[in-house]
Amino acid sequence: MHWYILGAGAIGRLWACLFDQGSVGSTLLLRNTAALARWQLSNRIEWHESDLIRHCTPDVETPDSKGPIRHLLVTTKAYDTLTALQAIQPRLLPGCEIVLLQNGMGQQQAALELLPECNIWAATTTAGAWCEPPDRLHCISRGETLIGPLSASTPALPSGWSRLPISLSDCTDIVPVLWRKLAINCAINPLTAIEHCRNGALLDSPRRMALLQEVCHEVEQVAKAAGMTLFEIPLLQQVEAVAHATGDNLSSMLQDIRHGRQTEIEQITGFLCRQAHEFGIETPYNSALLQQVRALTMARESQDD
Ligand code: PAF
Repeated sequence: MHWYILGAGAIGRLWACLFDQGSVGSTLLLRNTAALARWQLSNRIEWHESDLIRHCTPDVETPDSKGPIRHLLVTTKAYDTLTALQAIQPRLLPGCEIVLLQNGMGQQQAALELLPECNIWAATTTAGAWCEPPDRLHCISRGETLIGPLSASTPALPSGWSRLPISLSDCTDIVPVLWRKLAINCAINPLTAIEHCRNGALLDSPRRMALLQEVCHEVEQVAKAAGMTLFEIPLLQQVEAVAHATGDNLSSMLQDIRHGRQTEIEQITGFLCRQAHEFGIETPYNSALLQQVRALTMARESQDD
């Protein structure tokens, strides 16, 4: 058994280390020859966790490699999923196991439609990790990972995953889990990106709290129309708890904006607004956030021109 990892960012590299600890082989699929040249500076991951430093040496491959793939973990940004899967599609064997471990929604359905012959799972994780070039990986927490099959004929767990040294729960119905993550992301990510603040700072001002409340109310309405139960407590309270617990963090969307990268707004708030439109629900607050984050990205792009 050997897992290929598409998306060699912090989570992809963390999973390479976890596979290694679980005695499962893995190969990181690098984006291009420049990424391969950077990798070759050290040929390994220096994995920092608590006071421990370990080394992990997964195999690496360039995009022009041709061998068949039976097990594929996708940790790319949500917006890259389809293009990345299309590029690798000729290498996927029938019945190939694919795990999508990403933020956002919409790409899971697109993957199912593109690859009906494959067994596909979706997963979410609260693991926290970041990369420090050239080869350091800092694992803040292994967190909790929830995984579930996206179609009835797919088994509960992919091959080898029970060996991973993490807290892993298999869910028969992963879609509501994805919605819960989406709901939290809809509230925290765009607001922190627009306000340029840490997660905890959303709770500091009455104006931001009032906005959070409106955003959460709309998300709850759309989730309800989609037949999803979110949390046992109101979404706003859940969001407050997450913003408090991750108070010092910069949300992934704010980090993307700061680094001039594309954000996952279309797979987070964009997905919510598309769903709202289908159900005929007005979402003025979320729609405004969607426009504002799009504008931030465009302003950034025109600065770069
Ligand atoms: O995307 C993120 O940054 C995280 O999912 C969350 C929960 C907003 C905390 O930072």
